Amino acid sequence: MASRIFDHKKIERNVTLLSVFSLIAVAIGGIVEIAPLFYIDSTVEEVEGVRPYTPLELAGRNVYIREGCYVCHSQMVRPFRDEVERYGHYSLAAESMYDHPFQWGSKRTGPDLARVGGRYSDEWHVQHLIDPRSVVPESIMPPYAFLADRELDGTNIGADLRALRALGVPYDDAMIENAEADFAVQVDVFADASGIRERYGDVQIRDFDGDPTRVTEMDALVAYLQMLGTLVDFESAEALEEPR
Ligand code: HEC
Repeated sequence: MASRIFDHKKIERNVTLLSVFSLIAVAIGGIVEIAPLFYIDSTVEEVEGVRPYTPLELAGRNVYIREGCYVCHSQMVRPFRDEVERYGHYSLAAESMYDHPFQWGSKRTGPDLARVGGRYSDEWHVQHLIDPRSVVPESIMPPYAFLADRELDGTNIGADLRALRALGVPYDDAMIENAEADFAVQVDVFADASGIRERYGDVQIRDFDGDPTRVTEMDALVAYLQMLGTLVDFESAEALEEPR
């Protein structure tokens, strides 16, 4: 047919022409997928309850990353029945929107920790971290007893908050100014907690490592573990979304 715009035989026999047209075809697909991302504010839907970490929790997260807990533990419950029955509601993107770097992971030598908050007592966590085999005899997790002896004072945690703010985490001026104070208040049940509650909402305040005389990396790590996956109230959210 003489009226055809493209003579396929010609295109298929000419490597340069074929490459150029292939590139154009692939580019159209790429643009259609990528361009819209520049015009929407966020690809993560906001979810009620999700807030930035408190200074103490953030210090605990720093210990978690420093010790390489992510090498054996993921933090993402996948939307499969076996995972949901074992760990709880599957993870939402919003639940890790303030994680820099995120801790999703794909290697599970130990269980997923995305919803470990509130599953065990503080005492269990402390005992487990000091000597995992004292509570789970078949465990192959290494002991982290030294965390209970390493004191923390939160002097530099404000800088961490500032760095995260530069990455888009909504820490406001008051949070950054009061970072050191909030750090100390969260482990002291006798302190005035109105400030930290005003800034972060209903945070867990107590001595986490069983030694109220000092603040240690153990306090911070347990505070972090105990809040993982607890921010979103799935029971009420579920009831609204999917009536059964
Ligand atoms: C060498 C791999 C390995 C490393 C590294 C590791 N863990 Fe584990 N972890 C395990 C295994 C295996 C289990 C399951 C047995 C047990 O409970 O001890 C486990 C269990 C746990 C549990 C209980 C989870 C549950 O739902 O029962 C917590 C909490 C935990 N680890 C926290 C940590 C923290 C915090 C760190 C870093 C300081 C860490 N782990 C480092 C392997 C590891």
